[in-house]
Amino acid sequence: MKAIELSIDLGSSKTSIHKVGSGLIVNDESRVVVMTKNNRMTLLESGKGVEKYMKRPMQGCQVVNTVDGGVITNERAAVCMLKDYISRCLPGNTVIKPKIKVLATVGCGLGLAEKKDIEKALLKAGVSEVSILESPVAVAGALGFGRGHFIVDIGSSKTEIAIVGRDGIVTGCSVDIGGDTLTKSIADYMVMNMSSTISFDLAEKIKKDLGSMYENNNMSMRVNVRKVGNSKVESEVVSSKEIRNVIQPHIIDLLSIIYNLSFQIPENLADDIVQEGIVLCGGGSNLTGLAEYIAKFMQMKVLRVDDPITIVSRGGAYFLENNTDFAKMLSVVNYQ
Ligand SMILES: Nc1ncnc2c1ncn2[C@@H]1O[C@H](COP(=O)(O)OP(=O)(O)OP(=O)(O)O)[C@@H](O)[C@H]1O
Ligand SMILES: [Mg+2]
Repeated sequence: MKAIELSIDLGSSKTSIHKVGSGLIVNDESRVVVMTKNNRMTLLESGKGVEKYMKRPMQGCQVVNTVDGGVITNERAAVCMLKDYISRCLPGNTVIKPKIKVLATVGCGLGLAEKKDIEKALLKAGVSEVSILESPVAVAGALGFGRGHFIVDIGSSKTEIAIVGRDGIVTGCSVDIGGDTLTKSIADYMVMNMSSTISFDLAEKIKKDLGSMYENNNMSMRVNVRKVGNSKVESEVVSSKEIRNVIQPHIIDLLSIIYNLSFQIPENLADDIVQEGIVLCGGGSNLTGLAEYIAKFMQMKVLRVDDPITIVSRGGAYFLENNTDFAKMLSVVNYQ
């Protein structure tokens, strides 16, 4: 039986899996609900289904975010989640278990021990062969490997910024600023300036609905908040302008790193990169007006990809399908 080949992007917020020959199979949250009894962990729910447990917590159940900063935070829970997600990619009704080969994509800054943790979790989840590839290289695979790319992948916990050339990463870094940084700063702003506390989920909603880098955006929304001190629920009006002021410093921090890295574009890749523009992906790239803001500051074109959240696993699948390009990758660490 032919081996099943999967490209897995284990993100802090979302896990996506592309199966060679089939395409995107999984695009779900990296969290689970588990129950532990007699030191045995059982999976009750994974991904989007976790939300109903958050609303109505059950005794003995634990919600676990399996990944943070691209690193596995709870191996047993991560194995439960991976088993479940991988099972969605397997053919039904097979007596003989097919061999599963996985290419897992990781951030630029991940250490060897952390890569090893990902490999261990995958092996425990039933995978027989694991390869690791840095995520900006995977994005380059999705866009056309063999030319220059300037990748900015804004995830929930981190942003990967890298220049990828014909043989892999030329230079790059993983920055501790992501979508969660913006969300937390909105929640902090509400405490400091409106003496109001809001949940992380509401801060996310404000970021997505109201967050905008356009200066002329005059939208506003009314939100229910809990007042600090007396716990009373009141409603407050939040404007797009104030949210921009809150998130802008973080965007400027990112921009300064993008700007500095642009000086390291090698001459032989400059044409490719100028033509394509800075590639903006990751869920954070959906922030309204961000692409235009970066383009204006950098005086460069910015390319927003159609599938910003799943492009990494799609690109990983490209390397599974193209062994010669895969073999070229110096950044590939194969523990087998
Ligand atoms: N419309 C939007 N506006 C602003 N941010 C958004 C929008 N849609 C999604 N996001 C943000 O994208 C982030 C998730 O992106 P993504 O799924 O790429 O992260 P991840 O790959 O799981 O995380 P990481 O790469 O850091 O491990 C979240 O912070 C989310 O709030
Ligand atoms: Mg990511």
